Amino acid sequence: MSSTYILLVELMLFLYLVRETASKVEFTNVKCTSLDKEFDDFEYCYLKSVNRSYKYLSLKVNLYKVPITKVKVNFALLKRFSGYKPFLYNITVDACKVLKNPKSNPVFVFFHGLFSDHSNMNQSCPFDHDLLVDKLPVSFVNRHFTQVLPFPEGEYLFQSNWFAYNVNRAQVNVYFTLS
Ligand SMILES: *[C@@H]1O[C@H](CO)[C@@H](O)[C@H](O)[C@H]1NC(C)=O
Ligand SMILES: *[C@@H]1O[C@H](CO)[C@@H](O)[C@H](O)[C@H]1NC(C)=O
Ligand SMILES: *[C@@H]1O[C@H](CO)[C@@H](O)[C@H](O)[C@H]1NC(C)=O
Repeated sequence: MSSTYILLVELMLFLYLVRETASKVEFTNVKCTSLDKEFDDFEYCYLKSVNRSYKYLSLKVNLYKVPITKVKVNFALLKRFSGYKPFLYNITVDACKVLKNPKSNPVFVFFHGLFSDHSNMNQSCPFDHDLLVDKLPVSFVNRHFTQVLPFPEGEYLFQSNWFAYNVNRAQVNVYFTLS
């Protein structure tokens, strides 16, 4: 194949991707589940629409065995086809280490940056108090997300599993659409 042909194919692929690229994030649901109620439980976990332009996410998890000195987070992005299927990322990080040294995992830092300004989970371990995300505006996530990641349209699930001392203690699922 000539290089001109390859360039043409690349250009067509690029245009196709750009056309298919979504530009608006809309949260559709959030589900928080404690997997060990002696260790933690959610006091609340919801999305609220104040009006058409202002919608936010709030959650609070009570921690019963503080201080917690060993935390791992697994997160994955799933996309709905028939049922949610793994789409991109399936990463497990040592949250204590990465919060101390953010450069060590840019992907985690990106996702943490989506909520850290609206959360008290902005310091590293030990976690010695209840954790909350307070009125995280969807518009903030929208800007943050669509500036960086050109994803195709569709329904997505951002799934996170929170491990303390290597045991999965909680799952937070955020459902959203890209259109
Ligand atoms: C939506 O509600 C927020 C917070 O109460 C307010 O600041 C904003 O002006 C409202 N926007 C519209 C379009 O009503
Ligand atoms: C991510 O990987 C782990 C370990 O391989 C697996 O148990 C888990 O089901 C995966 N998560 C998703 C959403 O595919
Ligand atoms: C963490 O968040 C709390 C509450 O929002 C705030 O008071 C504190 O200054 C923040 N700490 C850092 C290191 O950003």
